[in-house]
Amino acid sequence: MKVYITRVIPEAGLRCLRDAGHDYTLYEGNTELRAEALQEACSAHDALISAGPNKLNEAFFAASKNLKAITLLSAGFDNVDIAAANRHRVPVGHTPGVLNQATANTAFLLMLAVSRNAFGNYRRILEGDWGFFRPTANLGQELQGKTLGIFGMGRIGSELGRLCKGAFGMNLIYHNRRRNPEAETGLGARYVSFDELLAQSDVVSLHANLSDETRGLFNAAAFRKMKSRAIFINTARGAMHVEQDLVDALEDGVIWGAGLDVTNPEPMHPDNPLLKMNRVCVLPHIGSATAETRDAMAVRAAENIIAGLSGRRIPFVINPEVYAAE
Ligand code: DGY
Repeated sequence: MKVYITRVIPEAGLRCLRDAGHDYTLYEGNTELRAEALQEACSAHDALISAGPNKLNEAFFAASKNLKAITLLSAGFDNVDIAAANRHRVPVGHTPGVLNQATANTAFLLMLAVSRNAFGNYRRILEGDWGFFRPTANLGQELQGKTLGIFGMGRIGSELGRLCKGAFGMNLIYHNRRRNPEAETGLGARYVSFDELLAQSDVVSLHANLSDETRGLFNAAAFRKMKSRAIFINTARGAMHVEQDLVDALEDGVIWGAGLDVTNPEPMHPDNPLLKMNRVCVLPHIGSATAETRDAMAVRAAENIIAGLSGRRIPFVINPEVYAAE
């Protein structure tokens, strides 16, 4: 059968598809596929691997009647209208589990970089401003023994908790929709309310899914509840923080610093004020971008499609209810 793939993905995944006897078409352009172009391509294919930000909404499912299986090449699935997928009875997979370490490492990298103003200090050198040594200038802050507040204690949040506990002996607190007993017993993480998380954390790190509940949750009111020395880290989805409120909170000293691997919109405009601010580190959504992790994600995506096309249940499915409806 024929699989449409919206990006060039690692060979490891393509090999799995070939070995299973499937053909594929890779979109090799450098600009985002327009909705109509994606729908047209999907009408001539049996399955889709969606690796970009294309919205898989009602219009998409209604126009893509030929698709028997879809997978995302991501753990996040906020670009999928699950109700629409269910209405059209299309199983949609994603690739969780294999990117926990890479993404947690990115949060850890940002946390450390912000705590020492690594990007701001680097910019100083580029600007010819290394300057005269002043023992009281360019002071960062230690992470040792501080409190890490994890918003969304799932697989990635737990991995970050493990790292920070091991590296800096950080105290872990977390807020989730549901309590995570493994994190409590295994990592000693303490469940707190959302307001307690904001008030008690020295670092707040986001690891939840983007949903109606979490969209824009980190706004001016939330930043005001945080410590003035707090560091805000977002490696989840940019739409979970309100960017202007974050800029204001940093400018007004409401919080101390921020590390972002995700922005809203993406790509971030090069003139964005956050890119010039001290104690702010921005990365271009590279959370899962290691060769090993991207190979594993491509294989997981291929396995989802191979199962879906052979009429089996997609192993990592975001809408299991599609099977119950059969
Ligand atoms: C994910 O897997 O959701 C990462 O953010 C990459 O999009």
